[in-house]
Amino acid sequence: MAERLAVAVLISGRGSNLEALVEYKRKADPAYEVVFVASNVPEARGLVLARRFGIKTWSRSHTGMERAEFDRLVDAELKRHGVEVVALAGYMRLLSPQFIQAWEGRILNIHPSLLPEYKGLDTHQRALLSGEVYAGCSVHIVTTELDDGPVIAQAQVKIRPRDTAETLAERVLAEEHQLYPAALDAFCRALIEGNSGTELSLEAP
Ligand code: GRF
Repeated sequence: MAERLAVAVLISGRGSNLEALVEYKRKADPAYEVVFVASNVPEARGLVLARRFGIKTWSRSHTGMERAEFDRLVDAELKRHGVEVVALAGYMRLLSPQFIQAWEGRILNIHPSLLPEYKGLDTHQRALLSGEVYAGCSVHIVTTELDDGPVIAQAQVKIRPRDTAETLAERVLAEEHQLYPAALDAFCRALIEGNSGTELSLEAP
């Protein structure tokens, strides 16, 4: 079997990207294996999915905890499970600089916009209000700045005249499910080959 990196997926909600990352092995032979799923929202639907896939999970509410303190718990769990790469998939919580530095160059995120445009929340609504022709999604390496860091993959979605934030989000999400597994695969391959992954520039077909 080819070498695979052990990946943890961090989620806060429905986990459709998590599902796509796990299911990817049905159609490809990825250079990663999702070995662990962690969440700051114990009732996240994605945790149920993960357990159904037979993946180990951990969750704890961050409420009332210092950011760095919570992240230390996550970090300890990742180490305990032999995690090598972290994939954020709808993880709705800023990571502490300490955590990001500890995992520097080994955290990916998927963001529903064509970065560097529309960092942060409500990306589709903002793209529509600005009269954009294209929306899309980006996979980037996480740095201490929000939704910043080298973009390694992007997929474009053409905005339609009658689009609402919801209809657009739905089409972008379908692209996310194609893009994220391919990007994580390419990223892990790059790391295995001794590269940083920053040289990647994938575009959705
Ligand atoms: C996705 O749109 C992702 O781009 C954003 O949060 C959403 C998560 O959706 N970061 P899901 O939990 O993967 O279904």
